[in-house]
Formats: sequence, structure tokens, C-alpha cells
Amino acid sequence: MISLVDLTAQYHSIKQEIDAAVLATLESGHFILGPQVTKFEESVAAYLGVSHAVGLASGTDALVIALRALNIGAGDEVIIPAYTFFATAGTVMSVGAKPVFVDVHPRSYEINVTEIESAITEKTRAIIPVHLYGHPAEMNPILEIARKHNLKVIEDNAQGFGAEYLGRKTGSLGDIGCLSFFPTKNLGAFGDAGMIVTDDPALAERMKMLRAHGWKKKYYSEEVGYNSRLDALQAAILQAKFPYADSWNNARRALAQRYTEHLAPLGVVTPIEEEWGRHVYHLYIIRSEKRDELQAFLKQKGIASDVYYPLPPHLSVPCRAFGYKEGDFPHAEKAAKETLALPLYPELTQSQQDEVIAAIAEFSR
Ligand SMILES: Cc1ncc(COP(=O)(O)O)c(C=O)c1O
Repeated sequence: MISLVDLTAQYHSIKQEIDAAVLATLESGHFILGPQVTKFEESVAAYLGVSHAVGLASGTDALVIALRALNIGAGDEVIIPAYTFFATAGTVMSVGAKPVFVDVHPRSYEINVTEIESAITEKTRAIIPVHLYGHPAEMNPILEIARKHNLKVIEDNAQGFGAEYLGRKTGSLGDIGCLSFFPTKNLGAFGDAGMIVTDDPALAERMKMLRAHGWKKKYYSEEVGYNSRLDALQAAILQAKFPYADSWNNARRALAQRYTEHLAPLGVVTPIEEEWGRHVYHLYIIRSEKRDELQAFLKQKGIASDVYYPLPPHLSVPCRAFGYKEGDFPHAEKAAKETLALPLYPELTQSQQDEVIAAIAEFSR
């Protein structure tokens, strides 16, 4: 069986370091925030080239707290891509605002920058570009539109740890960057974990308050916040993994290139990397009009694959309440019917990859 990701392979490759980090944390008796979390926050801030990082319980919380820190709520609109993980839309709704979708580019799956301005109204407060699958969104035009219309930019960098736009790390380009360290992410914890990064000290301060009940001083709430603090154990594990992040991303890129070299000649629609971007292949996505048949064929051969995502968020039950319907965002809807993620993780071997390629070649004949 070839799985889509293999988290134990990565654990075993650096087991001693992770075990030592876990044991040291258990011995420290410090489990919520504390020195382990501060260290990891500093590592990520330095890596991305930002001044502040705030460790949180998940990437979803990062989006919620980013929106709250910008005082976005009832009556406001936030522009997001029409093809993304539900959390991008769900968090906008959870703070009381309306998600306004913009269709995606049919090949890069990033928000189509040429359609953003027509979605702006007097209620629009922010744009959330998503670096989907690890490919960067086209940030300069997005930042220019935001400046022109006085909007904030929150990057959903859950899938893009290590990706670059014109040589700069994604997550560091907007007003706030939101990161997820969900176990399968390019840098993944052994549970839920997330982070917010920003260059704005006032925003960082507010987000630190929001992650702990609105406290500036313990027990003295100044506003309604959350319990969304990063666990010391997760931070220690993430810090142990952190030095490997670049080499793991390079391994993903090499495997992705190899997939493309073998699959493109078969007529398979393979992912693109825009010349201004560095893709980190959180997911390797192909497209097929016979996607469901291909997935069943691969399964029969013992090869896992998955669909990210079968339902574009505008067609979800909560978004339909705003009147969104089939046909609103054709590229997103077509992608939901055709995209398929193939096994890809840094420890995937070439012979496993060859099996996947051979199976797709057989299906394509
Ligand atoms: C694009 C995107 N946004 C947000 C999230 C939410 O992150 P988390 O699962 O850490 O809450 C994810 C991760 O699943 C994601 O892929």
C-alpha cells in the first residue's frame, strides 16, 4: 500500500531528536506557552523575516484571531478565493462577516487577481489570499489593490510553509500571516498547532491577548478572547523538526518534478509553478475528467489518493445562506470535480513513485 502521506517515516528519520525534545518538555513541567513556545516563535519569525510570531492552537484559530485583531466582524465583507479549505470561509463567518468569493486561476488554483476589484464593495475590509497546495498567490497585485482600497491582507499560509513569492517567504508579505502545523503540513506537529506572524507590534500584542481570554494581565480580561495557546510539547516537537523544513521541502520539489517529467508526456494535467513563485508542493495535484475512475483504479492497485476539495466552500451549507449557488465560480467548481492529490511526502521513495506513475500510465492507455 502506498499512502498519501506517511507521518511515521518522518518520525523515525529523526526519532532521537524528537524523543529528546518531548522528554525534556515532560521534565520541564511547563506545558502551555513558556520557553519552548517562545523559542519556536523566534525560529519561525526569523525564518520568515518578520518581527513577531504568536503561537496558537491551530491554523483555524490563527485566521479567527487575525480577523478579530483587525476588528473585522458583523457587517463586514472579506474577499477569499473560491477554491480553498473550508476554514478560510468558515472563520470569516465565525467572526460574523461575509465571505465574498473570487474565482481561482484554472492552473495555479490561486485567487484570480484580475477579478478581485470587481468584488470590492464599501463593506470590504480585507483580502485573504491562500497559498493553496504550497504555490504562492500573486501577492504584488493583491497588495496593490489592498493599498488602493484601504484593505488589510491576511495570508492563509497554512499550506505554504517555505514557499516564496519573488524570493520572499509567503506569510511575511501581508499585514498578517496565518500558519498551520497540522500533522500533515510541510512542517507538522503531533497534534493541532498554528501561528500568526506580523511586523506590526500593536497587532502582535492584540493577538497575544486574544489567544488567552483577552488578558494583558493574567485574569484581567480586557475583551472576549479565546483559549488558543500553543502547547509546549507541540512547540518542542516543531522546534526539533524545524531545521529539516528546507530539506523536506526540497525533497518534495524533487519528487514533484519527477512526477511531472513522467506524467506530463502521458497527457496528464500536472501542476504549474509560476516564474515568480517557489512551490513547496504541500500537495501534488493532477487533474482528470475521469478523476473518480482514476482514483478507484489507483485504490485497486494499493495506491492512495485524495480530493482537496470535493466541495468548493461557496456550495457548503453555511455559505449557501448568503445565496451562493452552482455556477457562481466555474473554475472552482470544475476543479472540485477534477483535482486529485497523489502520494507525496519527503520520504516517498523513487520506487514507490514509479509504482504510482506506472499505474497512471496503465490507466491512461
Ligand atoms: C488553506 C487552509 N487554511 C486553514 C487551515 C486550517 O488549519 P488547521 O487545520 O491547523 O486549523 C488549513 C488546514 O487544514 C488549510 O489547509
